[in-house]
Order: sequence, then C-alpha cells, then structure tokens
Amino acid sequence: MHEEGAKIVVVDINRDNALKVAENINAKASGSATAFVADVADEEATKAMIDHAVDTFGRLDILHNNATALEVGAVKDLSLEGWNKTLAVNVTAPFLATKYALPIMIDQGGGAIVNTASISGTRGDYGMSAYNAGKAAVINFTRSAAIENARFGVRMNCVCPGAIDTPAIKGLTGAGSASIGYVSVAGGGEIPALEADHSRQVREKMANAHPIGRLGQAVEIANTVLFLASDEASFITGAAYIVDGGLTAHTGLPAMM
Ligand SMILES: NC(=O)c1ccc[n+]([C@@H]2O[C@H](COP(=O)([O-])OP(=O)(O)OC[C@H]3O[C@@H](n4cnc5c(N)ncnc54)[C@H](O)[C@@H]3O)[C@@H](O)[C@H]2O)c1
Repeated sequence: MHEEGAKIVVVDINRDNALKVAENINAKASGSATAFVADVADEEATKAMIDHAVDTFGRLDILHNNATALEVGAVKDLSLEGWNKTLAVNVTAPFLATKYALPIMIDQGGGAIVNTASISGTRGDYGMSAYNAGKAAVINFTRSAAIENARFGVRMNCVCPGAIDTPAIKGLTGAGSASIGYVSVAGGGEIPALEADHSRQVREKMANAHPIGRLGQAVEIANTVLFLASDEASFITGAAYIVDGGLTAHTGLPAMM
C-alpha cells in the first residue's frame, strides 16, 4: 500500500511487531508510517486508533482489519474465555473499527474497508471451531455493512486466504516458534513442537492440499487487499474474495487419472 502512495498507521497489540513494520515502511524513500499499539478488541483503544489516523494524516481512506487471535482444540475442550477472545479479535474488532471509521469515511464522501476473513469462514476444520465461527461471522458482517453503506461511497469486502506461510502457520506446523502469543491451546499448554521430519511432512501435506502445490505468501494476500482497497475495484462491494491456490475449488476427491 505504501508503494502505491498510502500513508499508513500500523496497529498491533505487540509493540515490536507494529514498530518493525512501520520502520520497514519508513526506511523506503516514499514511506510514511506510524506505529500504534492497541488491543483492537477494546472499544476505547479502537476509537483512539481511528483518532490517531485522522490526527496524523488528516483523513481515513482505507481500513484493513487483519489481526487475529485464536484458541485451538476440540469443542469439548475449548474454554469460554478462549472462545470469547477468538470472537472478540476476529469479529468484534472489525465491527468496532468499522463503526468508528464509517462516519469519517461517509463525511469524506467515501472509503474502502477490507477485512481479512479466511476460507476457514466458508468450511469447517478440525480443532478450529471458534476461529471458523469467527471468520464466517466476519464474512456476513461484511456483506451486511457493505450493503448498508454502498450508497455513501464506502465499499467493504473480505479476502479469504488459504494457508499462508506466516509465523502463525509456521508455529502450527512446527516450523517456527511453538510459542505464539495469540494462538492458545484448549486446556492450556503449548502448540506441540514437532520433530523436523514430522514438521516437513505436515507442511508438505498442507501445501499439497492446495491444487497449486504450495502454501501462499503474505504478499499474495496483500496484493488482493490492495486491489480491493483501490479505485480499480470500484464496483466491488460485499464480496468475499477467495485467494487459496484452488483449495476450496476442489471437492476433496483424489485424482482418478
Ligand atoms: N496465515 C494463514 O494461513 C491465514 C489463513 C487465512 C486467514 N488468515 C488471516 O490473515 C490475518 C493475518 O494472519 P497472519 O497469519 O499473518 O497472522 P500474524 O502472524 O500476522 O499475526 C496476527 C497479528 O495480530 C496481532 N494481534 C493479535 N491480537 C491482537 C489484538 N487484540 N489487537 C491487535 N493486534 C493483535 C498479533 O500480535 C500479530 O501481529 C488474520 O486475520 C488471519 O486470521 C491467515
């Protein structure tokens, strides 16, 4: 987005994550970014985040809701706290940021909101019921908010990634740090560390589930978010864009020839 001229507020609950991304942007000749630390599931923090963007840059054209946190585990083992936290970060946070961004965008005559949902919001997954419920909810929240605000010039869409090779997926497949603060395990404990061979097998299986034969890269999602936020997507609103290397195009039956 910054390469296309956007001035950016990078928001994360983790100060180091926010600072690192803002510093990377500012290191580029045309980069203009600030880091803002907020728990996006908290109403006051979210209001402050939107105020900070407008105070710093004078307007708000794009909102990208991308944070996630989740508790993984079988339904019978999930804690109510983990369930509530998963829904708070994946659904309530996009609602709050949208609620406070909309009046500003409507006053300006328009804007674009992109929510990172997931193909997990379109299907079920083992051990992921809270997350998948949250991602399904954000897709349908997006549709309703999109139709409500279309006549005010605000477009709102979702991107639904397949498995993307980020720290979260590295952690869940044993290829990165097992301790990822925003992924908790039902009943306590850590994401199990996997032996190198086992981890390789899990990652290969995950990659091969995508007909394209590999995991996605973060930039492939960023490109879609950029498109949906841009004027080139001027007739697109209320959509859930699947970016999954063909994963959900497949019935699941094996190749017969
Ligand atoms: N990685 C995948 O395979 C995949 C697939 C489908 C969808 N997604 C979605 O893509 C988005 C980005 O995922 P990712 O894999 O890049 O994750 P990530 O590794 O970038 O981590 C998520 C970030 O959210 C931050 N965060 C957590 N709770 C927060 C809170 N309360 N307030 C503010 N920030 C908070 C974390 O500190 C972390 O930096 C998420 O919405 C995720 O659900 C990811």
